[in-house]
Amino acid sequence: MELRFDPSALRVWRPDEMPGEVRLQILAFMRQVWPRGFRGNDFLRGWIEAPQDDPLHVVALLPNGCVAAHAAAMRREAAAFGRTWRLGGLSGVFSFAQVRGLGWGRGVVARATELLEERGAEAALFCCDEGNVGFYGKCGWERLPGNPLTVGTPTRPETSPVMFRAVVPSGVELRERLASGTLHFGDYVW
Ligand SMILES: CC(C)(COP(=O)(O)OP(=O)(O)OC[C@H]1O[C@@H](n2cnc3c(N)ncnc32)[C@H](O)[C@@H]1OP(=O)(O)O)[C@@H](O)C(=O)NCCC(=O)NCCS
Repeated sequence: MELRFDPSALRVWRPDEMPGEVRLQILAFMRQVWPRGFRGNDFLRGWIEAPQDDPLHVVALLPNGCVAAHAAAMRREAAAFGRTWRLGGLSGVFSFAQVRGLGWGRGVVARATELLEERGAEAALFCCDEGNVGFYGKCGWERLPGNPLTVGTPTRPETSPVMFRAVVPSGVELRERLASGTLHFGDYVW
């Protein structure tokens, strides 16, 4: 089987539309690689991304039914700098280790990024590990300088790298504001 990225493998599903066998593969990957989200009773959780952030899932599905890669397009509103911003973001981005370096990661990120615009985001942002900043850079996202997000109650600075993308011109304004100010992103980051 040719394992290089093939755009015809991409599927887009809302959580309630995703076939169960696809959901279980994604959850099994996440449970193993990001165990913090699956502590205690959350080991049994059936949702991939927080429903309140209205996730839309991009799944790269091989012809034999195996998931190769996944990315979710999220959305949320946040108040900062005197107004409310329509924000998008990526979450749960991964490709299975066996198919890394073959374009699947970039493929799901590219499709999920398109969805952010279709879903009305002005700007999009999310947090990632230092080791993945280069990957997202190659996918057209930029890293914001400093620590421009706060999170939680009481408020604390979010210290992981923040990747950003202006989706429409007002999003450029948000990037400029974040050069010297902070945005409170809610109880948790993507
Ligand atoms: C990060 C990840 C999604 C990349 O997926 P992938 O399928 O290997 O990525 P691709 O093959 O599409 O790579 C696209 C480009 O990014 C580069 N790249 C991949 N991972 C990279 C990294 N960590 N740092 C810098 N560049 C990277 C590739 O070399 C390729 O570059 P090229 O265009 O010059 O050839 C994958 O390694 C993964 O699932 N990691 C574990 C889970 C994880 O950390 N997810 C991110 C959560 S924020």
